[in-house]
Amino acid sequence: MSEKSEDAVAREYRKLAERYDEKWAFYVEATLRETLSRMDLRQGDRILDVACGTGALLQMISALNPRATLFGTDLSPEMLGVAQSRLGSAAELRIARADKLPFDSGSFDTVVTTNAFHFFPLPGPALGEMSRVLKPNGRLVITDWCHDFLACRICERYLRVFNRAHRRVYGSTECRLLVETAGFENVEVERYKINWLWGMMTVRGSKPPRRPRLTIPGSGGPAELPPRCPPR
Ligand SMILES: C[S@@+](CC[C@H](N)C(=O)[O-])C[C@H]1O[C@@H](n2cnc3c(N)ncnc32)[C@H](O)[C@@H]1O
Repeated sequence: MSEKSEDAVAREYRKLAERYDEKWAFYVEATLRETLSRMDLRQGDRILDVACGTGALLQMISALNPRATLFGTDLSPEMLGVAQSRLGSAAELRIARADKLPFDSGSFDTVVTTNAFHFFPLPGPALGEMSRVLKPNGRLVITDWCHDFLACRICERYLRVFNRAHRRVYGSTECRLLVETAGFENVEVERYKINWLWGMMTVRGSKPPRRPRLTIPGSGGPAELPPRCPPR
């Protein structure tokens, strides 16, 4: 099932890559601007854009935060080809599925994904990977269209029938739950419209800090403190 839907995504974006920026200019510009305004960019951060497509967000981040170290992944080599010509050496790009990120654990200060979450066949494992590659206290930012809006529900019905690459669009409550279930804390969801059609949401959360470790005498090893250990 998941292989099939990823093949369909790869086929769709192979055809679309060269025209994507032009065809979706308004939507991409508007959603990325909204996303950027909700990102807590800090000088020198290491930032990963999952399913970065043609690299437009990475380019905007690079202009605002030239000292950031930028990475992008996508399953479509053609979309990454466009991103590579746009970004040159400003970002390191890798072909990868969202649920199998080719980075060491604890590599990034921020992981962001825009306009792609509704394609992921395995949203739980994808969020698990995003959490794994984040540093403790690292920030997650997801922007996607949102099932809470009537126009998006109609659009989704159409895509379910006519577009094999389409997977499913989430409502804000459902998306919050997925992010919390993946272990993120301080989860906030904001909904907004970019025009009469597109109702969007940006979900933000943070990876929990590293918990202090206790060594229990005689237990043979360290034990995690429970999350809310009462003071002694
Ligand atoms: C609508 S485009 C969004 C691109 C870019 N993030 C933006 O906002 O313009 C969706 C992108 O998600 C990628 N994609 C879809 N499913 C994916 C998956 N499971 N793993 C990695 N990339 C995926 C597609 O190849 C495509 O480049």
